[in-house]
Amino acid sequence: MNAETETGVCPLTRRWYSQGLTLYVVATIALTVAIGGAACQSKPAATEPVADLFRTTSSVREVMQAIVAPSAQGLWDSVGRISNSKGTVDLAPRTDAEWAAVRRHAVTLMESSNLLLIRGRHVAPEGATTLKADDADPGAELQPAEIERRINANWPRWTAMAVALHGAGTAMLQTIDAKDAAALETTGSELDGICENCHLAFWYPPKPAR
Ligand code: HEC
Repeated sequence: MNAETETGVCPLTRRWYSQGLTLYVVATIALTVAIGGAACQSKPAATEPVADLFRTTSSVREVMQAIVAPSAQGLWDSVGRISNSKGTVDLAPRTDAEWAAVRRHAVTLMESSNLLLIRGRHVAPEGATTLKADDADPGAELQPAEIERRINANWPRWTAMAVALHGAGTAMLQTIDAKDAAALETTGSELDGICENCHLAFWYPPKPAR
């Protein structure tokens, strides 16, 4: 290069020369550590931010309507007792095909919980208003924007509730694999409580007593 650059570099080079041995040793250690470290990093999560791969196109409301609620309903409807003018019938899956059908609901429900764990999903579609709930205190339902604020502010609580949903789905799946209709019904009531817990925490918290 030109003289100017060389004179600029010279003092530095001289200084580095005096520290050459130290640098060499440090560099060798750093390189060894780097190679060793790279060899240990077999998990893709370390190199690729997994969260960036998700597309949160549907809102929580739509995930509830399209995936969570229908699969839960399919499970609840598969067992129980119905009484009408013709008498009483105890419902339960009986054939392999019926058990396979409820199993599909359990898998869907279980995995739907993972959709709730993806950050940045909106609560409702753009411009949607508050959703009325049959079992809420009149007017207790929060605006989607407020629900979203609470989810972000209480993320560990939200995730714990989604994980609880996964747990309930897993418990139901086990009763299905054991073809145990009575246990399927019991775990179904527990599931109901898990839905309600989250709705009470984030969607329609009870109004404080006056
Ligand atoms: C982790 C929290 C969470 C869990 C668990 C949860 N929900 Fe929801 N759900 C919500 C939130 C938040 C809303 C309100 C969204 C809104 O304002 O639209 C909602 C809304 C709904 C809706 C409203 C849809 C409508 O059109 O009226 C239904 C139905 C629903 N949930 C069913 C269920 C069922 C069934 C379960 C359990 C099997 C369940 N949810 C579990 C958070 C949860």
